[in-house]
Amino acid sequence: MPATIVLGAQWGDEGKAKIVDFLGAEAEVVVRFQGGANAGHTVKVGDQTYIFHALPVGGINPNTQCIVGNGVVLDLAAFFEELDDLTARGLDMGEGRVFVSNCAHVVMPYHKALDQAAEASKGSAAIGTTGRGIGPAYRDKIDRSHGMRVMDLMDTDRLRERLDTALAEKNQLLTQIYGAAPLDAEEIAREYLAFAERLRPMVTDTSILLNKALDEGKRVLFEGAQGTLLDVDHGTYPFVTSSNTTAGGACTGAGVGPTRIDEIIGVTKAYMTRVGNGPFPTELHDEEGERIRELGQEYGATTGRARRCGWFDATIARMSARVNGLTSLALTRMDILDTVESLKVCTAYKLGDEVLEEFPADPRVLDKCTPIYEEIDGWCAPTTEARSYDDLPEKAKAYVRKIEELSRTSVSLISVGPERDATIRVG
Ligand code: IMO
Ligand code: MG
Repeated sequence: MPATIVLGAQWGDEGKAKIVDFLGAEAEVVVRFQGGANAGHTVKVGDQTYIFHALPVGGINPNTQCIVGNGVVLDLAAFFEELDDLTARGLDMGEGRVFVSNCAHVVMPYHKALDQAAEASKGSAAIGTTGRGIGPAYRDKIDRSHGMRVMDLMDTDRLRERLDTALAEKNQLLTQIYGAAPLDAEEIAREYLAFAERLRPMVTDTSILLNKALDEGKRVLFEGAQGTLLDVDHGTYPFVTSSNTTAGGACTGAGVGPTRIDEIIGVTKAYMTRVGNGPFPTELHDEEGERIRELGQEYGATTGRARRCGWFDATIARMSARVNGLTSLALTRMDILDTVESLKVCTAYKLGDEVLEEFPADPRVLDKCTPIYEEIDGWCAPTTEARSYDDLPEKAKAYVRKIEELSRTSVSLISVGPERDATIRVG
């Protein structure tokens, strides 16, 4: 794995962290390239459970350099909290190990306040965001008037000046549009100037650092957050996040060209989940869905919300393979289905008399689609101890082959449990 992107092929929470941790053992540089503290990446190593929001999971391997790329919206409160937690657990997360792009945008307190106020005002039209300020921070980045970059934070006068002009606008929005409380510039300046000093030694042009690492033949792991269906361009808009979660986002969000990428692994659960609002064609509204939720303990790592559960959807897998140019799939949470007698896989959608093989971009079309299912026998045997493909029950192998065939993508990794070694390399 010279330069590998690991990204979500569904609606996030696919078990990317588990796969990143597994592959991260071989990595020398690990990089987050989009999203922010909306991510909740849970990893189990030995008896320790880590939840990452802001830093790359690959940092668990002490030999990696950890990079927060320019495409990330950086929540400094979450970042330092995580850094301190990891340091307290014995990981060296200091200077020379963690690097932050000078071009990354910073999530400011008013972004979080606006995210939460805007969601509250939308009623039933709410996106169901994580409330971490992601949309407002990316909005300021794209809008160009008030974007606060890490490099702006490095200059005290500039920070004060940008904060004052931004807050003049944000406080009007908060108080007059949303009826929320205004924020105090002094207080924010004090907090962020302290953050800036702590951050300073880690700030650099991470694009130069990454390209140099690639030139030297180092193994670089690009860690996606969220998932393909949450991509602002290709996902179920407007029920998406505000970044490009797809493979192209790794290039723009890290400052490397597409020609440098060797492998793109799409992580996909053996079933599907979604947290937050928006369409989900194979969602189960019955006790089967509840059963999968309980078996898989499908509750959010960032917000604790119960995840919606449903059957594996191959139209989505094909779409994900297409927009990302996936070189393979990593199939996670196989073990959760160990006791389910009968499984369903959505092969395509029915729209009136038509059969749709491709995932429709228009949500109004998607609304009218019903999944076409193929029923598959469950394997009804434990897979958690399997360490090679041949250890899997025949019916579990048949399920993997069905997913490969319908997704038109080969499966290179299978996860059968949260532990690092509960991973099977296929082929
Ligand atoms: P990881 O990296 C699952 C969802 C939210 C909401 C929508 C927009 O752990 O897979 P946002 O706060 O980004 O503006 O919310 O996106 N969402 C996620 N769902 N996993 C995530 O991250 C998510 N990050 C955001 O629930 O529907
Ligand atoms: Mg998560």
